Amino acid sequence: MGVSVLFVCLGNICRSPTAEVVFRERVKAAGLEDRIRIDSVGTGDWHIGKAPDPRTQEAALRRGYSMASLRARQVSPEDFADFDWVLAMDDANLADLKVMRPASYQGTLARFLDYAQHTSVREVPDPYYGGEDGFDTVLDLIEDGAEGLLNRVREQL
Ligand code: 4NP
Repeated sequence: MGVSVLFVCLGNICRSPTAEVVFRERVKAAGLEDRIRIDSVGTGDWHIGKAPDPRTQEAALRRGYSMASLRARQVSPEDFADFDWVLAMDDANLADLKVMRPASYQGTLARFLDYAQHTSVREVPDPYYGGEDGFDTVLDLIEDGAEGLLNRVREQL
């Protein structure tokens, strides 16, 4: 018995793969890697099969997270059968997921940052078209969310 967590953004090359590696690191540190399954996807199809954005990878590596082996994939309705938690990076992602969610879904569909405990920001801003600072902001928010999320998820184990 375990729990499964899916992170969702638009392209699956910046925010949600960052959340995947940061959360995986926290889960490993807690010794729970055999009990929590983690993946990330995008709502869009533009970057399917691509590695994360180089700027995202560099910002993550500066904090010790390697994302090089990840490849983008697009969300599908079947993901709701596979994941107990489906967590959107922003409100647009959440709206798209609500349309796709089967009526029978018993898991939790929410904004990832609803679990962050040290910020009132509730959306991870899309860094794709912004400056370099955006990638560090994304990491700050995601580290906060990952900590709070792990506290919640482990209650289900
Ligand atoms: P992500 O960032 O949703 O955090 O992966 C984006 C990446 C690419 C695009 C938009 C957002 N794009 O429009 O190509």
